Amino acid sequence: MVQENKLTPHDLIWPLFITSGNNVEEAISSLPHVSRWSVDLIVERVKEAIDLNIPCIALFPNTPSDKRTVNGEESSNADNLMCQAIRAIRDACGDDIGILTDVALDPYTSHGQDGIIDDNGYVLNDETVSALVDQAINQAQAGADIIAPSDMMDGRIGTIRKALEMHEFHNVQIMSYAAKYASAFYGPFRDAVGSNGLLKGDKKTYQMDPANSDEAIREVAMDISEGADSVMVKPGMPYLDIVKRVHNELNIPVYAYQVSGEYAMIEAAVATGAADREAIVMESLLAFKRAGASAILTYHAQYAAKLLQH
Ligand code: PBG
Repeated sequence: MVQENKLTPHDLIWPLFITSGNNVEEAISSLPHVSRWSVDLIVERVKEAIDLNIPCIALFPNTPSDKRTVNGEESSNADNLMCQAIRAIRDACGDDIGILTDVALDPYTSHGQDGIIDDNGYVLNDETVSALVDQAINQAQAGADIIAPSDMMDGRIGTIRKALEMHEFHNVQIMSYAAKYASAFYGPFRDAVGSNGLLKGDKKTYQMDPANSDEAIREVAMDISEGADSVMVKPGMPYLDIVKRVHNELNIPVYAYQVSGEYAMIEAAVATGAADREAIVMESLLAFKRAGASAILTYHAQYAAKLLQH
């Protein structure tokens, strides 16, 4: 009766990895119990999500290596894995679930960086923004509900917003990965989308310094002023202070991403017997609510939603 916060399936966004082919499930060794699925099986997962009252899924493609190029052109191919999945989900499930799509070039580039690079490997902001706009419009045309730029280039929210308006996608939302840190917690994700072996160096020229908190508020405020409908803080658990500050100071829906490395840590603790899965998952997800998150992206979404049915 006096509990201040409550977790429900409506708080969960389920990230799903797409792979090529038909009836294909590929395990990801660094992410136990998480798989890549071909488009037909993604649709099955989405139907399960709907049955569990999960309101939204987030899609990430593992682009075949022969389609990865220096400038990531596959990102704006209307028939890429991402668009195939969006259309298949829309055909099978109508408007019963929200489809959130990641905008960034890393699943499509031969070097694994989120943007277009110069001869020294430095990611170029403005050239990248124009590629991201094409990618965002491509996803909106396929039927995405929420465009989620995760690249951390400056000025991309305003430019994508203008382009969406110009193409008459007035109802497509933008969820900005506004405060995204250059983090050691993304390793298993890079395995999942196949960019780990390709990436040289790091993403510190565009992702945030873990030492900073005021900078996160400035980044989020900038994206709100450019037209973001909601914002994301990422990673999750190590950055709950940032979730709380954004919630308190900026009055906008803030999502938290419990990222792949966090998931892997929890599963590793469960595997050694150091923690009970149900208890540790539910406690960690509730912590996001306490910090003020509107929703949580988590690879435990399906597992948690099942536990929350009653
Ligand atoms: C890429 C992107 C990343 C994640 C989501 N989108 C990785 C990165 O920035 O290198 C990480 C998610 C996770 O670790 O679960 N733009």
